[in-house]
Amino acid sequence: MTTNTLITESIQLILRHQAATGAYLASPAFTHYRYSWLRDGSFTAYAMNCVGQHESASRFYQWCDRVLRRHEHKARAAIAAVNAGDVGGKTGSDRFLHTRYTVAGEEVAGNWGSFQLDGYGTWLWGLAEHVQRSGEDDLIQRLAPSIELTLEYLTACWRLPNFDCWEEWGDRVHPVTLAAIYAGVKAMERHLPHRAGELTRLSETIRHFVLEHGTAHGQFIKSVGHAVVDASLLWLTLPFGLVQVDDPLMERTVQSIEQELLVGHGVHRYADDTYYGGGQWLLLSAWLGWYYARTGRWKKAHQIAEWIVSKLKETGLPEQVQEHLLSPSEYTSWVERAGEPAVPLLWSHAMFLVLASELGVTNPS
Ligand code: BGC
Repeated sequence: MTTNTLITESIQLILRHQAATGAYLASPAFTHYRYSWLRDGSFTAYAMNCVGQHESASRFYQWCDRVLRRHEHKARAAIAAVNAGDVGGKTGSDRFLHTRYTVAGEEVAGNWGSFQLDGYGTWLWGLAEHVQRSGEDDLIQRLAPSIELTLEYLTACWRLPNFDCWEEWGDRVHPVTLAAIYAGVKAMERHLPHRAGELTRLSETIRHFVLEHGTAHGQFIKSVGHAVVDASLLWLTLPFGLVQVDDPLMERTVQSIEQELLVGHGVHRYADDTYYGGGQWLLLSAWLGWYYARTGRWKKAHQIAEWIVSKLKETGLPEQVQEHLLSPSEYTSWVERAGEPAVPLLWSHAMFLVLASELGVTNPS
């Protein structure tokens, strides 16, 4: 298998698992992931934009629009409650918009850390990227009510503790979540000129909050008050642009990621990860490769792309590989509880496509 062949296969696999509604399934073969996430989906749509599959990305954003319209009542009730000072007891409570939906846009019942705000920022950021790359300008107009609703929801809720991008720590505030919200709000400034001033103030307030509370010892931290590194902190710069790639805070964060979370070419999420034994996540490896490409470390970026290609299984790229586990004793109990680790994971394929496109190998022969 070559990089070029995996590009073609990744595009086909993503298209195959995009529902008629436009939703991307996170993983078709893993029971808990047979749904669509705003987070995974927006990054997958972004990858599809990177390789010229604009129609697929457009269908995903139209699905997001339907989700927002369908759950408008719930969003408005949450906004009203938060604005009235009633932030609720448990952050995992059902009063906020969920993070994963069925392909028809329904909530998924069951015990899940559903209150996650990052996806709501990410879809706005991704939509703006889509419009810019595809030229489908009228989509903003068509989706305006959902965009406005999302902005109101984020304006009301952004300070609240909510589950992070790994669906953990619902009682904390996470810089990466805030960066996603920052990027989504900022991306809409130029599309909603009548609200530009207000949106600029909000995005700047969020940026300052992260710089003040989301850093320690000269680098970004996993959560406010929890000064450890998490590989998702890479997203603060790529793609969310809260700081430049060469900002000293980001450079030191990346050094910590390299020292604490990188083994070979595989990247762990965070040092205490126990999920499936805490393996190496292909999508995070691709992210580090993306960062290397943007900072001119081409050789390392290519090596990561090749490493990802070497991890391809019969049914696609997995979520994580188990060559190096941080918590080996936890692996079996996860398999007993939830089945084999997810494969294929559309988000792994998507981030491989993003890396490949950064490396300039997006024209499969
Ligand atoms: C990850 C999330 C992801 C979800 C679906 C979870 O295990 O922590 O980041 O959105 O799987 O892929």
